[in-house]
Amino acid sequence: MDEQETDKISAAKFSLKYLQKGMKLGLGTGATVNHLIKLIAQKSLHHELNLTMVSTSSQTRRLAESLGLTISELDSVGQLDLTIDGADEFDLDRNLIKGGGGALLQEKIVASSSDSMKVIASMTKKVDLLGQFPLPVEIVAFGWNTTQKRLKDLFKEMQFDTIECQIRRQGQSPFVTDESNYIIDFYLGRIAAPKLFEEEINKQVGVVECGIFSGLCDEVIAGDSRAQVSIF
Ligand code: 5RP
Repeated sequence: MDEQETDKISAAKFSLKYLQKGMKLGLGTGATVNHLIKLIAQKSLHHELNLTMVSTSSQTRRLAESLGLTISELDSVGQLDLTIDGADEFDLDRNLIKGGGGALLQEKIVASSSDSMKVIASMTKKVDLLGQFPLPVEIVAFGWNTTQKRLKDLFKEMQFDTIECQIRRQGQSPFVTDESNYIIDFYLGRIAAPKLFEEEINKQVGVVECGIFSGLCDEVIAGDSRAQVSIF
């Protein structure tokens, strides 16, 4: 087991204490949440606590169902009590970059439909300022090159020095999200005002959603390489 997995497993284990009887629970996407799903299945918590669960991606649904968990549709469940998800970066104000696993759109819809969103992550994801991790922006496939150019122009206007980006690929072809969109990853370095930035990006025509999550997460549970957990 590498160090990062120890970090992630510790955070996932700690988050079990937030699960309560009868909860409607959103399951995020990624390796850290996969640990949580495996723990829920191993401990049979879905039965014991009578959890109703909604997933944020086809990959999460596949894993959960393969372990005997039932995944319900968000539209039939309605408002959720809690969503537990991972993150690619978090700052001390609990702003996040998400979407490294390509699931940011469903993740944001599910988190926005939850009374509480908690992030489980490795401590290595903690940053002073977001932006070292490339920012994923989900855009519609039609005219993607034009939308990419529009975003580059926006970032230039917002005084970013270097605006490198690339369309996310799977082999030779563009990676296609669960909602049949594309993702552009922007290498920005420093995002000083995440909320404003999120709003500006999401205003652009052709953009479906960006990977900044500001004002959604109320707690980050970060595990470190010695299996210690810190709460932010
Ligand atoms: C997927 C995500 C993930 O939560 C993020 O990439 C973190 O993943 P991991 O737990 O594998 O580090 O945003 O879209």
